[in-house]
Amino acid sequence: MRQSFQVIAVALLTAALIGCASAPAARSKREPRTLALLNSLMDISEAESGSMRLQLEPVALRRLIEEVVDLYEYSAEDAQVSVSVTGQDAVTLMADRTRLRQVLANLLDNAIKYSRPGGSIVIDIAQNGERTVISFKDDGMGIAPEEISKVWDRIYSGDKSRSQPGLGLGLSIVRAVVRAHGGEVDVSSTPGSGSIFSISFLRHLATT
Ligand SMILES: Nc1ncnc2c1ncn2[C@@H]1O[C@H](COP(=O)(O)OP(=O)(O)OP(=O)(O)O)[C@@H](O)[C@H]1O
Ligand SMILES: [Mg+2]
Repeated sequence: MRQSFQVIAVALLTAALIGCASAPAARSKREPRTLALLNSLMDISEAESGSMRLQLEPVALRRLIEEVVDLYEYSAEDAQVSVSVTGQDAVTLMADRTRLRQVLANLLDNAIKYSRPGGSIVIDIAQNGERTVISFKDDGMGIAPEEISKVWDRIYSGDKSRSQPGLGLGLSIVRAVVRAHGGEVDVSSTPGSGSIFSISFLRHLATT
């Protein structure tokens, strides 16, 4: 909790300093990015401290995933990757729809961003024993073993030479929001072959 506020304080200070030192034109270009950074840090802090207010409602998983896939249609086209959804289509999860959409969007954004032209992404919905599991499988560049434990850290962006520009906050938000729902996150990856990011929720939160 204290660490969260320290991160926010540092970010605010940095933003203020950047603001003071910049020419007006440069500042106005940077402002949306600074604001996005601050909003994301606040989200993470809220979710991690347990103060994020979740508006739980029954969410039809497949429909929400397809909504997010539609949102990313043009990005996927630009990156020349295909996106498909497989698995169970009658799973309902008690979740905060807006927050869950944010989680799904971040995972799809990454799968597209770190893919390669001609690649394919599969989003799967499965019931695995006690858990409902949503996995994002890509056949993109993958993650080195020494980096894999760091990808959930705040403001961690992988090797800049291979990374697209980002704030390095997407996966921290994913983990914080999933945990706020009582769920878990997981990742496995083979460099050069691709990655699988998955989120899972206890089955008592879901009905089929
Ligand atoms: N599907 C993936 N394939 C390969 N590397 C990935 C994948 N998803 C995440 N990563 C690595 O994990 C790092 C952290 O991801 P995260 O989503 O938190 O930040 P980002 O994508 O760099 O920025 P942001 O999401 O804030 O725009 C990325 O910079 C990238 O190196
Ligand atoms: Mg990201």
